[in-house]
Amino acid sequence: MRKPFVAGNWKMNLTRAEAVALGSALAAKAAAFPAVDIGIVPAFVHLDAVGQAIKTSPVLLGAQDACAEKNGAFTGAISTAMLSDLAVKFVLVGHSERRHVFGESDALCNKKLLAVLNAGLIGVLCVGEKIEERQANKTFDVCKTQLVEGLKGLDKAKAGQLVIAYEPVWAIGTGLTATKEQAQEVHKFIRAELATIFDQSTADALRIQYGGSVKASNAAELMSQPDVDGALVGGAALKVEEFLGIITAAAAAKK
Ligand code: PGA
Repeated sequence: MRKPFVAGNWKMNLTRAEAVALGSALAAKAAAFPAVDIGIVPAFVHLDAVGQAIKTSPVLLGAQDACAEKNGAFTGAISTAMLSDLAVKFVLVGHSERRHVFGESDALCNKKLLAVLNAGLIGVLCVGEKIEERQANKTFDVCKTQLVEGLKGLDKAKAGQLVIAYEPVWAIGTGLTATKEQAQEVHKFIRAELATIFDQSTADALRIQYGGSVKASNAAELMSQPDVDGALVGGAALKVEEFLGIITAAAAAKK
């Protein structure tokens, strides 16, 4: 049985005071959901303050990105060591906005993922197709390439630190959500690919989150799918009651 993992990606939102307030509100409720891993992913500049606010709670602190390099002349970048130092536990790699707004390639995502895992952190590798790719029946091809290239050189022994997030780009921030059938179909495909890349038991143990306009009102049906092991939530994670609704749905569906 895979423990569901629900993470809220706050993206480039919230002032420091707002971020601390949201983290604190969640931290106060998180102990009621021992069957769900709960994560929040504030902007880099809020990690320290939010980390302090949640430190006595089970809420896991995540970062939205990390540099593939250890240290040195990389202006504007944040290293995995800096993140670990702030008690960050997991890092998003290859989020669609990093890929499609900032132009990150599969090769760069791969370097970042290896850096994250080698630093002892959990890496959440995000994959997913754009609308024109879905319409051209390329969803599986796109996800397969992003997985194969993104996981290149990954030692199977480190697979326990890996999480995959399936996030169809057309569903992110658009209010459009994959149907539960569309999500399950791709999650099942991803798990089969993971079995090819690693082996079946490793694939069976890996968590695959769904992301793309997940809200309290649609979480239950998405979480009811056998290969959907949680959610990566954007907009709805900025409202404590909405986010708690998604966590509640994950806890109920995976009982
Ligand atoms: P959304 O974002 O929930 O606002 O669609 C999801 C994500 O980008 O992870």
